[in-house]
Amino acid sequence: MTVRVPAKVNLQLSVGRQRPDGYHELLSIFMAVGLFDEVYVTDGEGLSCTAGGEGSSDLPGGDHNLAVRAARLLAARTGAVPGARLHINKGIPVAGGMAGGSADAAAALLACDTLWGTRLAFEDLRVLAAELGSDVPFCLAGGLAVGRGRGEIVAALPEVRPFHWVLALGREGLSTPEVFAELDRIRRPSGLPPRPVGPDVPPDAAILRALRDNDVASLAAALHNGSPSANDLQAAALSLRPSLAATLRAGRRAGACAAFVSGSGPTCVFLAEDAPAAEHIKAELEKSGTCRAATTTVGPVPGPTVQIGGRHL
Ligand code: C5P
Repeated sequence: MTVRVPAKVNLQLSVGRQRPDGYHELLSIFMAVGLFDEVYVTDGEGLSCTAGGEGSSDLPGGDHNLAVRAARLLAARTGAVPGARLHINKGIPVAGGMAGGSADAAAALLACDTLWGTRLAFEDLRVLAAELGSDVPFCLAGGLAVGRGRGEIVAALPEVRPFHWVLALGREGLSTPEVFAELDRIRRPSGLPPRPVGPDVPPDAAILRALRDNDVASLAAALHNGSPSANDLQAAALSLRPSLAATLRAGRRAGACAAFVSGSGPTCVFLAEDAPAAEHIKAELEKSGTCRAATTTVGPVPGPTVQIGGRHL
């Protein structure tokens, strides 16, 4: 069985204060984009996991791998015998701020749930997903959604027509906890209260309107509205990796309507007018030498797909 799960970017990522459990309260607009990890699963004795593709040698092994932890958690909660061979084919950059590990966890949950016949209701899968990581529930859902809590409370938004994007992949990953810690450090001396993100605060209306209207110019304006970025983690990612400023500049110079860091980075995201503009921005980014690679994509895209059959292990 093969489960294919898309990456995510955050169009809005408002970060509130740190909670007693160490997580930050968030308000986010999640969007799935057309860059995929595939997880192949077959019967096996015990749990094993191999990986190939984009940056796979950097993946943690054994029980540190989020896909293996997902399979183990499903078995523990359902009483299923945890027997499966997992193979991850990475298309999502590792430690890139695009929920690559969370996508693998979501894929492993769906795949093992089918393989072992545990057939959990979607809501029960979502509970397990939230235990595995803040981005895993969105990865189960895909499309477009508002995220709250530490990111794990996900409310789907109505479908919209896809936009064209370019992604610039960083040379080295960034650690999500380090980026959040850097944001706290930057904010401390200013004494400013963190962004309000409580349940009464609505997601950015201008971003939602532009998405609904498929209006590229309005979306670009909304993504930069009032601050350099709708992503609060961008300042922290730039502080830890100042070279990202040159990547963002290179994309803007190539005609990107908007440029921002994805989640905790270091992947940079560029909004393009149309498909030819996206190809041009990708080529210019690659020429600029400010990133490891660039790729065009579209988003939002639907969530995971499960296919019986596929690659032999
Ligand atoms: O939930 P996940 O395991 O993906 O989070 C990784 C790390 O990112 C957390 O341990 C925490 O340091 C940080 N984080 C946070 N606030 C969030 C989500 C993640 O501080 N809402």
